[in-house]
Amino acid sequence: RKDAGILAMDIYFPPTCVKQEALEVHDGASKGKYTIGLGQDCMAFCTEVEDVISMSLTAVSSLLKKYQIDPKMIGRLEVGSETVIDKSKSIKTWLMQIFEEHGNTDIEGVDSSNACYGGTAALFNCVNWVESSSWDGRYGLVVCTDSAVYAEGPARPTGGAAAIAMLIGPNAPIAFESKYRASHMAHVYDFYKPKLASEYPVVDGKLSQTCYLTAVDKCYRRFCEKFEKFEGKQFSVADADYCVFHSPYNKLVQKSFARVYYNDFLRNCSTVDQNAIEKLKPFANLEAEESYQNRDLEKTSQQVAKALYDAKVGPSTLLPKEVGNMYTASLYAALASVIHNKHATLDGQRIMMFSYGSGMTATVFSLKANKGQHPFSLSNIASVLNVQKKLEARHEVSPEKFVETLKLNEHRYGANDFVTSNDTSMLSPGTYYLTNVDDLYRRFYKKV
Ligand code: ACO
Repeated sequence: RKDAGILAMDIYFPPTCVKQEALEVHDGASKGKYTIGLGQDCMAFCTEVEDVISMSLTAVSSLLKKYQIDPKMIGRLEVGSETVIDKSKSIKTWLMQIFEEHGNTDIEGVDSSNACYGGTAALFNCVNWVESSSWDGRYGLVVCTDSAVYAEGPARPTGGAAAIAMLIGPNAPIAFESKYRASHMAHVYDFYKPKLASEYPVVDGKLSQTCYLTAVDKCYRRFCEKFEKFEGKQFSVADADYCVFHSPYNKLVQKSFARVYYNDFLRNCSTVDQNAIEKLKPFANLEAEESYQNRDLEKTSQQVAKALYDAKVGPSTLLPKEVGNMYTASLYAALASVIHNKHATLDGQRIMMFSYGSGMTATVFSLKANKGQHPFSLSNIASVLNVQKKLEARHEVSPEKFVETLKLNEHRYGANDFVTSNDTSMLSPGTYYLTNVDDLYRRFYKKV
């Protein structure tokens, strides 16, 4: 099958958000710690009427409607999420309601979960299905949905929430370069959710940063080797028009791109300029372990890679900075930001993607864009995503209200027999919301 990949996309994030600047003041953090230190502007969060199920229902029904897809034409549906609600009952089964209504229950796939990586696993499954002999000619549908919330403390400003739906099929405007793919997977306790009565993870922040950067190095190196084996020429970051990273917070993305450039320097790539070579020379013989802790290397590599960062990474950072870490949806919200910003000039360009899930699982893979044909064209995807409008329509909430909401959600997590406020005043038409949970823990949703 030619050019299997992403045919269409839509994104939903809650309209409620808190400004990082206000959160700094509220938390007593030093001025600039969240905005400059972490590089974040704003953070979306679910109120008690929204959750990962309602967001995914909203994203899927919106995608089907806006691209006029007959629900009978979906043959595989996969969900990536790390937000646990019914444990054994997948979020995918919730989404089946939309398809049952149209008489389609012949849909393969369940949920994939490993921290922020589940969406990528789901996407690979769908693309592989389209490229396989078991493909029945219908579309695949991938949904990434997560609500990222942390206990009070340094990790709290790195939350966020969103759901993304992606339609998968052949002749896609965002096609997979399936040959070029490299992973790094290992056992670590950097971030995990062993407390089943709480939505909050146990997180070793410093370790998670090093794990992430180690995974960038390992995946990128292997990706370059594979590319070279297939193409008979060296790969460097100059061969990627855009680099899109999973984004827990923007500062880590800045450091990751600098790391990629440092790798190109260590690999003697001809595309690394003379000035950068001079500045990076003192760090040429650092042991890998040492290099993650070296502040001078961090600063110098970020500085020499700055212009390339602005051109190749900058366009992907809008939604992750405005919405926060969306876990499984984060990488694809960054991709959506590239489409939003660059759809007019993306034809023929290569996008290098880095997916990371704690625990840990990571892959670098490659996408190639082409204009596509309506409704599956880059310009139509950009207009359906409607990123600017969705951002502008949000309601800024005070940090006090944000903290109060999280407290209520803590209380409600895993609880039964309650009715929500049913307050839909912030939600736009077509948005699903939670009405109540009965004594058997069954959840009920309605649509605005
Ligand atoms: N002005 C400007 N910058 C500041 C200021 C200030 N006033 N104060 C601090 N900073 C900088 C720091 O120097 C640091 O930047 P640097 O790394 O370039 O030196 C940055 O702000 C953060 O400050 P730290 O003290 O390192 O932050 P802290 O340790 O309190 O928390 C952390 C950061 C560990 C990322 C925490 O938010 C966390 O645990 N988050 C969740 C885990 C996470 O997202 N990990 C990433 C990969 S795994 C995943 O995707 C979940």
